[in-house]
Amino acid sequence: MISSPSSPHAESVQKFALEINSVHKSFGQVGVLKGVDLKLGIGERVALMGPSGSGKSTLLNCICGIESMDHGEIKLGGVSLNDMSPKNLEQIRRHSIGYVFQSFHLLPTLSAMENIEFPAQLVDMPKRERRERVEKLLDAIGLSHRAHHKPDALSGGECQRVAIARALIHLPNLILADEPTGSLDSDIGGQVLDLLEDLSKEFQVALLLVTHDQVSTRICNRVISMKDGMLV
Ligand SMILES: Nc1ncnc2c1ncn2[C@@H]1O[C@H](COP(=O)(O)OP(=O)(O)OP(=O)(O)O)[C@@H](O)[C@H]1O
Ligand SMILES: [Mg+2]
Repeated sequence: MISSPSSPHAESVQKFALEINSVHKSFGQVGVLKGVDLKLGIGERVALMGPSGSGKSTLLNCICGIESMDHGEIKLGGVSLNDMSPKNLEQIRRHSIGYVFQSFHLLPTLSAMENIEFPAQLVDMPKRERRERVEKLLDAIGLSHRAHHKPDALSGGECQRVAIARALIHLPNLILADEPTGSLDSDIGGQVLDLLEDLSKEFQVALLLVTHDQVSTRICNRVISMKDGMLV
C-alpha cells in the first residue's frame, strides 16, 4: 500500500535514502567489510571516519556498484538492489546516487557546464530541463562566469565545485563523497563543505561523507566510524 503524506499510515512508514544490512566484502582471504549495517534518512548527512585501510572507500564502492559485495543487502530509497537485473541495477544507481571523488574525476575535454550536464544525459533528462538545472547549479556553485572553461583552466576548488554540481544534476537522493576536500587547502576545502551542506539542505539529498578530518564533520548530523570491518 502506498501512503500519501496525509494518510494516517504515513508516519509509520519509515523512509531512508540508504539502508545497508550486514554487508560483507573480502578481497581474496582478507575480510574488509564484516557485517556493515547503516541507515541514512532522507536528507541526512553522515560522516564516515576510520583509519586508512579500514574499508571506507570499499563501502562506498559497494553502494555505487564499482565493487560487488559478497553478501548482505543494500537498499536505495527503500528499493533493494538484491536480485535486480544488471540493467535495472545500473538504472537505479544512475538515478539515485551522485559520487564526489577526492581527485574530482572531471572529463578533461568537456567544459564545466558539459561536465555537469553529462549524468543528466545518461538518465535521458529532457534537454530543456537539463539546461535549466545546469544554469541553476552553476549559479549555486558561483561559477556561472566559468561555464565554458575546461577543467585544466579551473582551480582545484573550482573543479570540486563543478564535481559537486555534476553529482546533483540528475536529482539523486544520495551523495557519496570520498575525501572531497582531501586535495584542497583548508580555506577552499571549507567552502566546498559549506556548498555540500547548503545543496544537501536545498535539495533534501542525503550525504555519506568519508573524511579523515574531524573539522569536516561539522556539516554532518551524525559521525560514525569504521572499525574491524564494522561500523561503530
Ligand atoms: N581492489 C582491491 N583488491 C584488493 N584489495 C583491495 C582492493 N581495494 C581495497 N583493497 C584493500 O581493502 C582494504 C580497505 O581499503 P579501502 O580503500 O576501502 O580503505 P579506506 O578506509 O578507504 O582507506 P583510506 O582512508 O586510506 O582511503 C585495504 O587493505 C586495501 O588494501
Ligand atoms: Mg579510501
